[in-house]
Amino acid sequence: MGYLIIPASKEYGEIERMKIGLVGDGGREHAIARKIAESSQAELFVAAKNINHGIRSIAKGYAQLNMTDLDGIVAYFEQNQVGLVVIGPEATLIAGIVDKLRAKGILAVGPTQQQARLEGDKSFMRYLLNEKIGWGSPAWKLVASIKEAEAFIRSQGEVVVKPVGLTGGRGVRVMGVQLKDINEALSFIQELLETNSSVLLEEKVIGQEFSRLAFICDGKVIPMPVMQDFKYAYDGDKGMMTGGMGTYSFADGKMPFLTSDEIKTADKLLEEVIAALEKETGEPYRGFLYGQFMITRSGLRLIEFNVRLGDPEALNVNTLLEGDSAQLFEKLASGKLSKADVQFKPMASVVKYLVPEEYPGKLTHDYFFNLDENKVSEADFTLIQASVMKTGETEWKALGSRTMAIVGLGQEPAALAEKIDALIDELKPQGLRYRKDVGNRDNILQKVEMMNRIRGVRK
Ligand code: GLY
Repeated sequence: MGYLIIPASKEYGEIERMKIGLVGDGGREHAIARKIAESSQAELFVAAKNINHGIRSIAKGYAQLNMTDLDGIVAYFEQNQVGLVVIGPEATLIAGIVDKLRAKGILAVGPTQQQARLEGDKSFMRYLLNEKIGWGSPAWKLVASIKEAEAFIRSQGEVVVKPVGLTGGRGVRVMGVQLKDINEALSFIQELLETNSSVLLEEKVIGQEFSRLAFICDGKVIPMPVMQDFKYAYDGDKGMMTGGMGTYSFADGKMPFLTSDEIKTADKLLEEVIAALEKETGEPYRGFLYGQFMITRSGLRLIEFNVRLGDPEALNVNTLLEGDSAQLFEKLASGKLSKADVQFKPMASVVKYLVPEEYPGKLTHDYFFNLDENKVSEADFTLIQASVMKTGETEWKALGSRTMAIVGLGQEPAALAEKIDALIDELKPQGLRYRKDVGNRDNILQKVEMMNRIRGVRK
């Protein structure tokens, strides 16, 4: 073990310096790293593909490694006597890093390879819901031919087309949004079938999506505040899907367009899924679970599971999380976390990502911009670095993906969102854009009205 608990005292404050490993280099990992670095006991060692200046500046060690080079990652942590590792990216989890770390006696926050199929294989996820739980899925079909696809689309009307494996949140296309009609849907399915043996088609459901994330510790589901992610590239949910342009949450951890019962139903599904998954794999789940849900006219539907913290959601929750996260992660990874160990500040949160104009498309030119980090902290906000290179004191170069995010905490999302917009308009980072409607008051009110209408016609 890389860190020692001094037996003379039961107080966690008496732990020798904990060497904590972190895998990943995005905004999610910068938010996790900042929170871990608040702990005076923690020393952070990072395995990441690219250099994230924000993470590197607070880490004791930083190794550039491929995110599926499991042996390289484990060896790096072993060499540095790291005792506990938090894994950010899904690709590393799905490749089986947790099994490898545990085999070396290193504690890990994350699901095992078998458990990570919940995110890595959407057909397994639908199978688990249908066969072991019996509720929660929209109508779906795994199709292996255009003929099957056409028959399902004709039976459903509009559908959502999902590649079965990982797509970084950008592979899903929806009829009526990115796919104009059945012909466009079928040609996208054809394209996917050229490199995949099957494609998942799901009934297109209408309602409001929300993110319910939880710490999962040996069957216990310890929820985080409900958040809403803005997945589309532009205001008004226009354009392609992205990794997520921004998120907000309310101080009470709920959402004005959701009832308490709807949130409880989401938590019930998380509990049932974890019980089924632990039974199916014979292993306790110790990590994060992220349910992306929608309330529809027929009730709650599970859109997707992720076996990691979401991004941007990780930025909200790590900023809201109270206490020492090094201690929390150690308890989580050793099966000892309880509800009482997890507290969030009773505040609202808003995250807005800045992205290159051309995102999520391929960038056709360099994006150099100026942004003074001090101005962000002076305004009482946090700057999270993601896909960006620091080239000078206030100079940056945006890389291909989401560039950086501004995170704010306050009394309620709308006022916070306005303040963040005003700050971004003042900073004017050249070539970057963001979504103004994240946390916007009218946007939230429209959602409340929409859900009232939907509930009024519930079958
Ligand atoms: N917020 C979406 C994701 O992390 O996949």
